[in-house]
Amino acid sequence: MCGIVGYVGPGHAPEVIICGLRRLEYRGYDSAGVALLPDGAQRLLVVKTAGKIAALEKELALRASACAGRCHLGIGHTRWATHGAPTAANAHPHLSANGRIAIVHNGIIENYAALRQRLEDRGAVFRSETDSEVIAHLVDACYEGDLRRAVAAAVEQLEGAFGIAAVSPRHPGLIVAARRGSPVAVGVGDGETIVASDVCAVVSHTTRVVFLDDGDIVAARAGAVDITSARNLPISRELTHVDWDVGRIAKGGFEHFMLKEIHDQPRALADVTRGRLLPADGATRLSGMRMDAREMARVSRLIIAACGTSYYAGMIGKYLFEDFAGLPADVQQAAEFRYRNPIIERDTAMLAVSQSGETADTLAAVREALRKGAVVLGICNVVGSTIAREAGRGVYLHAGPEIGVASTKAFSCQVAVLAMMAVAFGRTRRLSAEAGRHMVNALADLPRIAAAVLERADLIRAVAEKYARARDFFYIGRGYMYPAALEGALKLKEISYIHAEGYHAAELKHGPIALLDSEVPVVAAVPDTPDKVKTLGNMQECRARKSPIIAIATQGDAGAREVSDDVIEIPPCPEFLSAIPVVIAEQLFAYHVARARGCPIDQPRNLAKSVTVE
Ligand code: M6R
Repeated sequence: MCGIVGYVGPGHAPEVIICGLRRLEYRGYDSAGVALLPDGAQRLLVVKTAGKIAALEKELALRASACAGRCHLGIGHTRWATHGAPTAANAHPHLSANGRIAIVHNGIIENYAALRQRLEDRGAVFRSETDSEVIAHLVDACYEGDLRRAVAAAVEQLEGAFGIAAVSPRHPGLIVAARRGSPVAVGVGDGETIVASDVCAVVSHTTRVVFLDDGDIVAARAGAVDITSARNLPISRELTHVDWDVGRIAKGGFEHFMLKEIHDQPRALADVTRGRLLPADGATRLSGMRMDAREMARVSRLIIAACGTSYYAGMIGKYLFEDFAGLPADVQQAAEFRYRNPIIERDTAMLAVSQSGETADTLAAVREALRKGAVVLGICNVVGSTIAREAGRGVYLHAGPEIGVASTKAFSCQVAVLAMMAVAFGRTRRLSAEAGRHMVNALADLPRIAAAVLERADLIRAVAEKYARARDFFYIGRGYMYPAALEGALKLKEISYIHAEGYHAAELKHGPIALLDSEVPVVAAVPDTPDKVKTLGNMQECRARKSPIIAIATQGDAGAREVSDDVIEIPPCPEFLSAIPVVIAEQLFAYHVARARGCPIDQPRNLAKSVTVE
């Protein structure tokens, strides 16, 4: 949610930090700031503004005389307000009262009120309403000439989740960062080092990245890192090669990241399946699962834990595991998991589905499942993310960076991964080679199917513009189309701010049908599946209440056309994968509705790309 960038090296720190903060803009934020140490200066220059990075840049330009000279050290931050309004005073970095320590912080300090009271009793003067400011005062209180030790002593007293970076004018070549529950990555380049909360801010400088684990403290100097535990014991962490090139993080000629990412899907679906399909054997090879056939056969129940769009992909996973592997599967909202007393029997496995791999609730579910002895597999997009690392095994999506807040290509790749896993588990049970071959061939065809939906983008845009002024929408579907309806409604509400509800088509008449009239369009996910006829009946019921009907149906389906005002056609697709083309059509529909309404599509109000707080 918040973003951290720190730089130490031969480059001009303000430039590198602003560029890094821009790369994190997609995560959603409301204010930003930097703390810089111009060469030879005795004091840190701190500049903070409410609003966009452009406002911070403008303010920095006004202070040009103070930072125009050489400057090789600094930290920056984008804030998404939790404690205190999004004002310049509440923006990070926060300084200790004597200006000796500056910190930036992601996460929430749960015991900040008690710490603040204690520090105030000892004379500290606070300037913000944030929980984060206590860290600056606390590090200062622990400082005895060694910044790393001061940070280590301070974090011992913190409760909650954090990623922190700290600098001091007394240590002109040093950034100290620490992590517990909120990601910190350190890019180690040629004579320069970048500390960031997200690899996106690092990859334009270096692809060599060290991901900190909880409890790690790093002393980052130009081109060198030194990782220790809080007790000062040296720790060695693997250097990961992150092959995201900067071009893939840019918009590539599209008006918005979301549109680019929707159009990325044929490529992403080719990448997620590449090398993993074995048509001759009717099987899949997912080596990251690190489970042999015997281990897979032993799993007797799956728990799929996820949030938001990933949760809806998980619902499809449940159907896939039941249909093709005969394996009982529960999908659980990750936020609920650890607060219940979940039953994890021997041979239960958890699948943690998360694009970012950093969602706080999903991570907590993973930890609870590991604690209870379950095998946990991560289904993540971001390589080296916390869930991927803590699960220790799983399957990466290879969708490439997803920058738009609305998840698009990650959903399609999550469904593809879950289908490949269903084949893998299924082949250790009742799925025949022939049936497996049918599934594998269908998976191989996904890039073509996705491209065929995208070819209809102009038509989808026309339909979207026709309905862009509606105030409420319903999305309906059955079977595999039920999660697709939920996902369509989520996409529309998050980027267009239109009230939209996803319902099982049969559930409408148990209440919500009372809301239907000529002002409330219904989007029906009704491709050619065995459930179709029943959904057509439900569409008739909506029509009888005068709701305009928009069908997402298989091309040439006369039955769907007959009961609809508008039809968005998708190519024929086997039922088990049909959510992918349907949801791509829904993504384009939501995008064009939001665009017609002039909404800020990539960074919708109140939302953040990665939800790292509970
Ligand atoms: O990174 P994750 O997949 O764990 O994120 C989960 C949700 O926060 C995410 O899918 C959210 O619902 C998206 N904004 C939906 O577009």
